[in-house]
Order: sequence, then structure tokens, then C-alpha cells
Amino acid sequence: MKKNIKNKLNNLKASDNYRVRRAKDSGNSHIFRFKGNDYLSFASNDYLSLANDVRIVESAKKALDIHGYSVSSSALISGYSRSHMLLEEELSNFLGQEKTLLYSTGYQANLGVIKSLASRGSFIFADQLNHASLIDGSILSRANFKRYEHKDVKELESLLNKCPDSREKLIISDSLFSMDGDFAELKELEQSLKKYEAKLLIDEAHSLGVFGYQGRGLVFEYLLNKNENIFLTGTFGKSLGTFGAFFSGNSDIVDYVMQKSRGYIYSTSLPIHTIEATRASLKIIEEEDWRRDKLFSLIRYFKNCIKKSNLTVLESDSHIQALLIGSSADAIFFSDELMKRGIYLPAIRPPTVEEGKSRLRISLTVDHEEKDIDYLINILDMISQNLVQ
Ligand SMILES: Cc1ncc(COP(=O)(O)O)c(C=O)c1O
Repeated sequence: MKKNIKNKLNNLKASDNYRVRRAKDSGNSHIFRFKGNDYLSFASNDYLSLANDVRIVESAKKALDIHGYSVSSSALISGYSRSHMLLEEELSNFLGQEKTLLYSTGYQANLGVIKSLASRGSFIFADQLNHASLIDGSILSRANFKRYEHKDVKELESLLNKCPDSREKLIISDSLFSMDGDFAELKELEQSLKKYEAKLLIDEAHSLGVFGYQGRGLVFEYLLNKNENIFLTGTFGKSLGTFGAFFSGNSDIVDYVMQKSRGYIYSTSLPIHTIEATRASLKIIEEEDWRRDKLFSLIRYFKNCIKKSNLTVLESDSHIQALLIGSSADAIFFSDELMKRGIYLPAIRPPTVEEGKSRLRISLTVDHEEKDIDYLINILDMISQNLVQ
């Protein structure tokens, strides 16, 4: 057994897919402080640069003083507070949904929701590039699991066509794909849903806070919140700059998931200070359009600069821009060279992305400036030219 694991570790190292962690001193958004040095980071999901916002931190501190650290129980026993209830209500209003259930993490939410809504005999149809938690939830549910080519609604419909009418059908997709930065065809998915009497679960992890009116996400933007067969999950660990996650939808479906979801029922509820931090963040997100305006302007600037460089990124209109490198070894080379020049941007490798599609996933955040983008692109251009020579 021990030898077997050693062999597996050695194989990972040999394939350049062995992962290491770098223990940062501090930093979110555009800064990664490591061993006493500040690196310019393009590797954070703190898209709106809120993780260090004093208003959010103060809300958490205040709640810590009153409530202590833990709620010491799952929500259904004694871990559900007035703060939890208020955040659920506020999120429901924000998203235009009837009801919301808080989860500790987005990973847990996706596992819990999918396992509650699909079982042996049901059919799940999933985009090939869905997040790992959506894939794992689908496998765990034991439903018939069908994956369609990325954004290929025609293939989705041909799979739906082959599915017996009597079976429950659940379509699952990210709204903004985390490693490519492109959007799902939500309007087309809604059409398929109607045609085949299916339900649709959308993961808004990367779009919430950034897209849609006041950052309400893409389900809201496309008025899909009006459809009772469409529901969503999301996390607070990205643009909200806090921690935790949720499931939102019509009253009955959320109520049902609460009754059934083992990840909800058998897990300690979120601490009250993280809830109060998220409530403060939600208010800021609603009120401060300038953050989205700045981020959209940086996205436009980045795309313009890339066009003028020798680099090509995957087609994306979002704050996630992916520079496809190819082999894991080359992606690590790029990342190491960037680090030598003060930029933190780790290589994204299999199994997060397909073999041969290792990349640098560039995350833009509100605290970046145009000069940061200039510097990144200049250095990337230089490294890529040296690699070719
Ligand atoms: C699309 C997507 N869904 C869910 C998650 C999981 O969220 P959390 O970090 O809260 O577990 C992530 C995080 O990486 C994600 O990218």
C-alpha cells in the first residue's frame, strides 16, 4: 500500500501534475504576499476586491464579540440564527427567488442539491466543462449521467430526445465557466428545458456580484428567476469576498432540499460572523456599481492589449481570461518565470483541465490597474518569445 502511494506520487511528479501549495503571508485580490515580498497577483477570485473591505471586516468583528466563534451545531438542531434567517431572506430578494438555503461551501451545496434532486432512474445532462463539484454531485446521485460538449445545446437536445418521457431530467451548467471564462447559453437552455419538461440547475459561482443588474447574476439578468423549474447555487468565497454558499429557488424545491440534503443536515452551520460579513458584502455589491464599471473597463483594456500582443487567449468577455499553454511542464515554466518577475499566477493543470490544455487562468479584480495589465502582458509576451526561440 505504502509503495503503491509512493509510486502514484512519483507518477504525478513525473507528469508535472504534482501540486504544491504556497503559504502566503497575506493578500487577496491583486496582492499575494509571500515570504515577505508582495507579488502582483492574477490568481484570486476576490473579483470585486471586497475580502479586505473594512465594512465587511468590522461586521464580522462585531458579530464575533456578541456570538463567539461557532454556532456549535447543524442548522436543524441549534445552529440556525436570526442572522442566518435574515441573510436567506436578503439573498432571496436580491436574486428574485422565493427561498434560499445557506450551505457552508459551494462544493457542499452542489453535492447536496444534486443528490437531493436526482436519484437512480433520473437523468442528468451536464456541460462537459462544469465545475468538479457539479460533476461529483452528479456521480454521487447515481442518476444516469450524460455529458454534452461544451455549450453544445444541439447535442444536449439529442440526448434529451433519447431519454424516456417518464424519467426525471435535470440539466446542470455553470453560468460562467470557471476555467475558460465564457458564458453558458442560458436562454437556449431555457428553451430546451421547456421542450423536454426538464429542470435546470445553474451554478452562479463566478458571475454573482459581477454580472446582471447590481450584480444579481445571470439567472436574474435573463429573467430565468421567473421560471419555477430553474434554480441556482452560488458561493460567497469569490466576488462577495467572504465565505459560505447557498441554494436558491422556488419555495417547495428549497424546502425539499432542506429535508433531504445530507450535506446540509449533517454539517455544522456557518458561524454568525461569516454570515454578518456576507450581509455587509451583499449591501456593498448592491450599492457600488463603480466596482463593476471598473472591472468591465479592465476587461476591455485587457482584451485590447492582448489583441496587440503576440498572445492569444480563449474567447471571453469576463474577468476570467485563459491563456492556453498546452503541456503542464510549459505552464509551470511560464508560472515560474512570472514569479521571478514579481507576478503570481500559478499553472492550471489536469485534472482541473483536460490533458494538453494546461493554462494560465488570469483573474482580473477591481484593485488591478491598467499598468498591472501592461506589465503582465509584456512579461508574458517576452516569456512566450523566449520559449519559441
Ligand atoms: C463553479 C464553481 N462552483 C462551486 C465552487 C465551490 O465553491 P466553494 O469554494 O464555496 O466550495 C467553485 C469554487 O471553486 C466553483 O468555481
